[in-house]
Amino acid sequence: MRRAPSPSFWHRLFLPLWTAVTWHRLFLPLWTAVTRDRIRPRVATGDGRLAGKILRRPTVFGRRVAALHPARFVVLLLFLVLSGCLNDPADRVEHDRRVGHAALDGVGRVDVDDGLATVRAFDAEGVTLWAQAPGIAGALAFEAPLPGAFRVTLRNALPDAVLTATADGTTIPVTALPDAGPTGRAWELSDLPADRPVRFTVAAPDAVTPAPFRVVYVSDLHHGRGPLASIIDLINADPAVRFVICGGDLTHRGTRSELEAFLADLATLRVPFFTAAGNHDVGWDTADVWAALIGRATFSFPFRGARFTFLDTADATVHPTAFSWLRGFLDAGRDALHVLVAHVPPLDPVGERNAGFSSRAQAHRLLAALAAARVDLTLYGHIHTYHAFTNAGIPAYLAGGGITEGERGDGVGPHFLTLDLDPAAATPPKVTLVRVP
Ligand SMILES: [Fe+2]
Repeated sequence: MRRAPSPSFWHRLFLPLWTAVTWHRLFLPLWTAVTRDRIRPRVATGDGRLAGKILRRPTVFGRRVAALHPARFVVLLLFLVLSGCLNDPADRVEHDRRVGHAALDGVGRVDVDDGLATVRAFDAEGVTLWAQAPGIAGALAFEAPLPGAFRVTLRNALPDAVLTATADGTTIPVTALPDAGPTGRAWELSDLPADRPVRFTVAAPDAVTPAPFRVVYVSDLHHGRGPLASIIDLINADPAVRFVICGGDLTHRGTRSELEAFLADLATLRVPFFTAAGNHDVGWDTADVWAALIGRATFSFPFRGARFTFLDTADATVHPTAFSWLRGFLDAGRDALHVLVAHVPPLDPVGERNAGFSSRAQAHRLLAALAAARVDLTLYGHIHTYHAFTNAGIPAYLAGGGITEGERGDGVGPHFLTLDLDPAAATPPKVTLVRVP
């Protein structure tokens, strides 16, 4: 299976370096450290002015950097560069662009609209997708006639999802195969043409009907450190829940082995699970694992007259490209009941960690955009606590109760939220706190 190339080595090395040296508060102390031999004599003879220009006073961090031995300074610089390599939102944007697209020489290609499913496997016998939305659509194109039927396997699907396929308006014969687990659906497509693309759609019968439905919001599961099995049992016991939305931090390090172990336990959930990316998911150079197993970090989908948007704020900011995608999602959801999910909140309303965005200007820019687009509900995680508040006039909830050891002070402990949405009634979702024993 052939995918578009990953970001180059040089891109990965120099982009974070460029980000670091243009970071004003970092640039100044580093420059001070590098030039201290030239600066100090000239400062010592004057009154704080340097060649007619005022010498800016370094920060405390800057003075500490300036006092470093040159060898230690080089080590610090390398650490900063490598740190940038570990957590680069530009990488995730590039991964997002590639999610849902795969090609195989001699067979053909698959393209999922809006990248709303990641391609887990693709060969002449079939394709396996992991869905990031209750409904997906896409295209299959083949280089030559297939010897037999073609199998489409969709994991993380609604149990009542149905696949239909056409080629130039002609219906393709589809046979449903036995389910592969509670959210695993599979179909066999016959008589596939090789001279024109096949369009396919997977959707539940009620997907476009504006009518009340319930979803669950949970965040910060940190697999192995929270009551995942109890949370799944409680959700499975509620037949009204259509799907689960999550604020991220599925595991602690985001490695392939950790994420696969999480997904193995998640397999008992009887409804699909759509999630934002947390800093623990993609913050350790694991964005490629996330893209391969889960999919995009920023995406959006409609369901029953409502819209759900997941925004990548895993490193306490929003990448400019992700922000441009967000503007498109906000336009698409302007007249719908619109729910936004993001891991790191723009502002920390609790204060125990000061864990909002690193830039107040970025927080303002995001919240102003959400308010202008009349977003109805914002859901965050990261702070491992429960808190109901408003931001920019929009109802908001922190619900990081997927981990047992939450922040002190809320008195809630492990928890999740149920959201009852009525897209046709133009009323805010009814949000209910559910404590997990
Ligand atoms: Fe977390």
